Amino acid sequence: MLHETGPVEKTPNSDRLCAQAEALLAGCDDAIANAANLSALIYHSFAKVNWAGFYFLRNGRLVVGPFQGKPACVEIPFGKGVCGTAAASLKVQRVADVHAFPGHITCDPESRSEIVLPLVHRGDLIGVLDVDSPEPDRFQNSDQRLLEKLAALYIQSLG
Ligand code: SME
Repeated sequence: MLHETGPVEKTPNSDRLCAQAEALLAGCDDAIANAANLSALIYHSFAKVNWAGFYFLRNGRLVVGPFQGKPACVEIPFGKGVCGTAAASLKVQRVADVHAFPGHITCDPESRSEIVLPLVHRGDLIGVLDVDSPEPDRFQNSDQRLLEKLAALYIQSLG
């Protein structure tokens, strides 16, 4: 008898996860509450992820917000590390090997790859969404597209 095993999917189904996120964020426009639930959803939906959470812009610095994973650096200077670079450039930073990223800030030494998405609400940067993996080169185009959709749903939820 033939058993079809197929590849193990590391990226969750996009439509299903976006529907879950929309349901989770519906009816609430609180930035902290929605960040808490979205970080939990991401952490538990993407395989090989050891940290998922938010940093918010506060007085020119990034300050840790709701997250799932080990305790993290409290503050990141604007322009520093992967998070600070995403914030300063307003561009998604997808880093296949964090050790090769100049200025990478180590919160958990187990992290090997990372993706950080800037969060812009009504034209203003409000923070970043950061997802880390213990696996090198964990994040692919499909992960980036899905995380961009989730980040957009988060921004939309704030009104
Ligand atoms: N590695 C990040 C710091 C945040 S933690 O990974 C949770 C950076 O270089 O900005």
